[in-house]
Amino acid sequence: MEFYTLENKNGLKLKLTNFGGIVSEIHVPDRDGKFADIALGFDSIEEYQDHNDAYFGAIIGRFGNRIGGCGFSVDGAEVSGLFDNDEGNHLHGGKVGFDKVAWTAERISGEGYTGVKLSYRSVDGEEGYPGNLDATVVYKLTDANEWVIEYEAVSDKATVYNPTNHSYFNLAGHDGASPLSHEVQLNAKLFTACDAGGIPTGEVLSVAGTDMDFRAAKTIGSAVDSADPVVSSRGGFDHNFVIDKKPGELGLAAVAYDAASGRELKVYTTEPGVQFYSGNFLDGSLTGKGGHVYEKRSGFCLETQHFPDSPNHGHFPMTTLRPGEVFCSKTVHVFGVR
Ligand code: GAL
Repeated sequence: MEFYTLENKNGLKLKLTNFGGIVSEIHVPDRDGKFADIALGFDSIEEYQDHNDAYFGAIIGRFGNRIGGCGFSVDGAEVSGLFDNDEGNHLHGGKVGFDKVAWTAERISGEGYTGVKLSYRSVDGEEGYPGNLDATVVYKLTDANEWVIEYEAVSDKATVYNPTNHSYFNLAGHDGASPLSHEVQLNAKLFTACDAGGIPTGEVLSVAGTDMDFRAAKTIGSAVDSADPVVSSRGGFDHNFVIDKKPGELGLAAVAYDAASGRELKVYTTEPGVQFYSGNFLDGSLTGKGGHVYEKRSGFCLETQHFPDSPNHGHFPMTTLRPGEVFCSKTVHVFGVR
């Protein structure tokens, strides 16, 4: 297991490891050119192997977020008994998901970028999922200050696939002031309603007139303690927002902005959804880089993906991957300042 550091012509740096495809550091400048590492994480690969319960920086697979009741059917084949790691439900790919496996890494470069290509074969039946799945994830750092993620996969049996990256951001720096003061804007007028366990009910609801409305930028802190049961039942924001764009098109999902430093993050994706998670389950029990203790809501995630539990909701965009098809997905993080 190794670390790989990418650096662009402007001095931005992204560090990752082939263990879990984890992005462990992202160094970006503020409006005065001062760099900070805005990704929560650990210093060593051993710590990631030992206790990355929060999924800091990791690739999530085979299925991002939850599968209700630990089962589903795909093209008529029943899949049951997926690992229950979330009170009767299956979370983030199970016991040994893509966040905990060794990926094969290869450095790559091209016009205006350097990167790493990660490859992993998940064998038929691994974590209960059908099909040998050959997955690649390419991370690129471009001279346009973008962190690009390109996911591809093929399977030899009908299966489901829904990867994401689980980076936690704090634009003030991973050890800086609380990101609850960050402004967040989500390009979403709808979200998928869920039960208290985070499993979609199947309803797709409007954000209008509720604290779920992030169409205009507002601080996370202004609404995270909302009395609205939609928010409070999840302990804050931990919801799948339906991105306003055409299916498959690379479109804007989210903008986060830290007025104090001027750092801005824009997230574009080809995926239909973004799980906006305000770090509600962080509780001070994880000590990260430089000995910094990650308190509740000290980082937030913008996980671009298909909707949670899609295999059990026929009207959600489909996550089925069949033999002969190539799964392709792209997410672009653009780092800027105001
Ligand atoms: C998020 C998920 C949360 C929680 C977190 C990991 O993706 O939406 O509910 O499970 O991962 O702690």
